[in-house]
Amino acid sequence: MEGVKEIRRGTLQEQTFYEQVGGEETFRRLVHRFYEGVAEDPLLRPMYPEEDLGPAEERLTLFLIQYWGGPTTYSDNRGHPRLRMRHAPFTVDRAAHDAWLKHMRVAVEELGLSEEHEHTLWNYLTYAAASMVNTPG
Ligand code: HEM
Repeated sequence: MEGVKEIRRGTLQEQTFYEQVGGEETFRRLVHRFYEGVAEDPLLRPMYPEEDLGPAEERLTLFLIQYWGGPTTYSDNRGHPRLRMRHAPFTVDRAAHDAWLKHMRVAVEELGLSEEHEHTLWNYLTYAAASMVNTPG
């Protein structure tokens, strides 16, 4: 069956999460699907300063790749993530938080990861989204 490979005992835990879920391609699919949602979102779309969402898509992709143990291209280009600081110019309130996670949920589900991987990824995303809120209400 496609996608089913034998994994030798003892090798899996030596892989990063990034590798376990399929590497760059998986993160590109995730963030691409997420931005399809953002592009149609009346609250989130106006928050993005650039006309073209492509560069923002690339930044989030590279950040997540780095976070999960892949290449450090994000920091090579952008320096330390300092994500809360980088979100300070934007009003991240409860509604923005909920909309962000709504699009991310769709994107995560479409990856079709194992239950455990999906759970790990989703836990992180919900935690990170909560920590990005900078405006009450
Ligand atoms: C909670 C709701 C969130 C909202 C409304 C939001 C919104 C935004 C906006 C408007 C930008 C600017 C677009 C750009 O120029 O890249 C941005 C950038 C970014 N966001 Fe978020 N974000 C949220 C949560 C998160 C979370 C949870 C993460 C990480 C898991 C994240 C990671 C990033 C990254 C890596 C960038 C690019 C930073 C840079 O290098 O300049 N965001 N976000």
